[in-house]
Amino acid sequence: MNLNRLFDDFNVFYKFILKSKIKENDICIDATMGNGNDTLFLKQCIGMNGKVYAFDIQKQALENTKKVLEEAKLYNNVHLINDGHENMNEYIKETIDFIIFNLGYLPKGDKNLITKKETTIKAIDESLKLLKKKGIICIMSYYGHEGGMDEKNSLIDFLEKLNYLEYNIIKFDFLNKKNSPPILFLIEKK
Ligand SMILES: C[S@@+](CC[C@H](N)C(=O)[O-])C[C@H]1O[C@@H](n2cnc3c(N)ncnc32)[C@H](O)[C@@H]1O
Repeated sequence: MNLNRLFDDFNVFYKFILKSKIKENDICIDATMGNGNDTLFLKQCIGMNGKVYAFDIQKQALENTKKVLEEAKLYNNVHLINDGHENMNEYIKETIDFIIFNLGYLPKGDKNLITKKETTIKAIDESLKLLKKKGIICIMSYYGHEGGMDEKNSLIDFLEKLNYLEYNIIKFDFLNKKNSPPILFLIEKK
């Protein structure tokens, strides 16, 4: 991890924070698999026997992610699921340590296949139920695309209403970057 970019890039920032908390053999969800970068990151943290459930509505995402994991020799105890994250409760019957959402569309992929506010909020609601105490949900919100602002605002509205006695929620926002820089949300279950 290149810590020189810690304050440049939230992808470095959230990985730095999660890395300090994740342990070998933890159980995680990558709610937006895409090209598998976050699934790979989680597996590198939790090791061969740690478990990851990863979701994407694009079949291509499963193929790309499987390839990335096989190349890293980490394709073990990984469940790649070709379904929307809003249905995660149908697949997961155990509690979870860490969950990552990377909202928006897949860079270089089909820009019509974006995350949508209704399904995103349902998925985050389901994630909160599955999360262990002291577990963390990390949400990267890219909102520069059509519908993105709507999703971001619904997300903030939803998170603001969560009980402060049950959750710590932090919002990281660049104040001086141009072109709709992403927002990072971290939710810890108390
Ligand atoms: C910003 S990309 C994720 C990038 C990914 N984390 C990576 O490392 O490459 C967002 C992904 O969310 C997926 N997506 C959109 N709606 C979804 C849904 N309801 N459930 C699961 N994935 C969804 C898209 O297909 C896309 O691959």
